[in-house]
Amino acid sequence: MNARHAVAESSHAQEFREKLLSWYDAHARDLPWRKSRDPYRVWVSEIMLQQTRVAAVIEHYHEFLRRFPTVEKLAAAREASVLAAWSGLGYYRRARMLHAAAKIVARERGGTFPSNAKDWLVLPGVGRYTAAAIASIAFREAVAVVDGNVERVLQRIEGQALSGEKLWDAAERVLERKRPGDFNQAMMELGATVCTPRGPQCLICPLVGLCKARGEMVSAKTSVPQKKRNIHYALDRRDGSVFLTQRPQDIRLMAGMWELPEIPEPPDHAKPFLTVKHSITVTDYTVNIWTVPAPADVRGDWWAVERLPKLALSGLARKILRRSGIFEHPK
Ligand code: ADE
Repeated sequence: MNARHAVAESSHAQEFREKLLSWYDAHARDLPWRKSRDPYRVWVSEIMLQQTRVAAVIEHYHEFLRRFPTVEKLAAAREASVLAAWSGLGYYRRARMLHAAAKIVARERGGTFPSNAKDWLVLPGVGRYTAAAIASIAFREAVAVVDGNVERVLQRIEGQALSGEKLWDAAERVLERKRPGDFNQAMMELGATVCTPRGPQCLICPLVGLCKARGEMVSAKTSVPQKKRNIHYALDRRDGSVFLTQRPQDIRLMAGMWELPEIPEPPDHAKPFLTVKHSITVTDYTVNIWTVPAPADVRGDWWAVERLPKLALSGLARKILRRSGIFEHPK
């Protein structure tokens, strides 16, 4: 395709901005963190949203802010209480980094948050995407956000498999510089609710007239280096049963499937009972399984071992239970 015809390059860019923002003004979800431009609140929401669906974030956002209403309160908290408030959101590393960053802001910056994306990047837990989201939403800095949703929207609009810097450039060129925070949120929202990975709803899309793909498109395989993470699960067994927790029914990924309860950190044991490697998208997880009781606040059920082979288990849970010798590989 000729680059001159790309939406990001052409006079269509203005039409793109207007259509997207009118759609957002009419259809934006009424999310709690959109009621304020307070950088503390915006920051907490963006960290929570990094790997967690909106509904789960809403459940925890108010309680977290009630417990830690300011960056100073968060900085002064014990790590155990921050992790407890994070319980249910998973990926506890985010909570630890949020806490570490709060200490930096409160103690080294006199409670003042950075006001641009470049300075946000220095704080633990804040990558390029999160820095741009916070700076554009809370400080109206004209910087574009690229997350998985924005990537898909741009690729479909342009009808080509953009990746890496080309993607960030395209996002910068279409950005509405007068309303960068709204524009970025509109892009993410369109990707999350209309321009979805499978079965995009082109009939109700405000940008359909400008879109090259008008439907699904195989996305580019980008060769991003894999991140490495440790994650910990409790294998809680009692009287021939295992304690498992169920993923929410309203999420796209593995809805309603059963898995082992995650624990925030390794217990004081010498070694995990089992360690398995698990790779998803851009992350290689080292999954540590500890034979400890499930955290008291995790909801779940006890499942008799004989019933496990027929249960809707996540792939990782199945792998763990099989490697633990709890059920045999059905041949
Ligand atoms: N995903 C992450 N942050 C978001 C935001 N502020 N609005 C919509 N989707 C998001």
